[in-house]
Amino acid sequence: MNKASKIVVTFGTFDVFHIGHLNILKRAAEYGDQLFVGVSSDRLNIEKKGRAPIYSEPERLAIVQHIKPVTDVFVEDSLELKAKYLRDHNADVLVMGNDWEGKFDHLRDICEVVYLPRTEGISTTETIHKIKKYE
Ligand code: CTP
Repeated sequence: MNKASKIVVTFGTFDVFHIGHLNILKRAAEYGDQLFVGVSSDRLNIEKKGRAPIYSEPERLAIVQHIKPVTDVFVEDSLELKAKYLRDHNADVLVMGNDWEGKFDHLRDICEVVYLPRTEGISTTETIHKIKKYE
């Protein structure tokens, strides 16, 4: 990989893609020249949240892949493998939403770690609840 360009990596489920997702991807991209996004696998979501995302893994990958500032996507299948994913992508910067504030400081020996404020008033969980009320 060309080290002349600064590489940013971020992670998320990006289920029922919304404006908060778009905002963080746009802001993450501003920290470098290339943005790689680890999209969590269906398996990982079932393990951590006890349910599969509404949109399937291939659908979530395809949506995020085609967001303008995204260079490429990969599947995140384990929260514990963040260090490996960062090394594999030669990351200079890890960007996470501040719901994860402090949780990834130990990765600072691999790359810069930046926490960005979440967009207020929206989340996938709230959106699903809102849609359910329309039933
Ligand atoms: N994010 C954000 N602003 C929001 C919602 C999410 O900046 N309002 C960011 C998260 O901090 C994370 C990325 O988007 O870095 C992916 O978040 P994800 O967990 O997939 O989205 P949520 O809407 O938080 O989903 P859920 O309600 O299932 O937790």
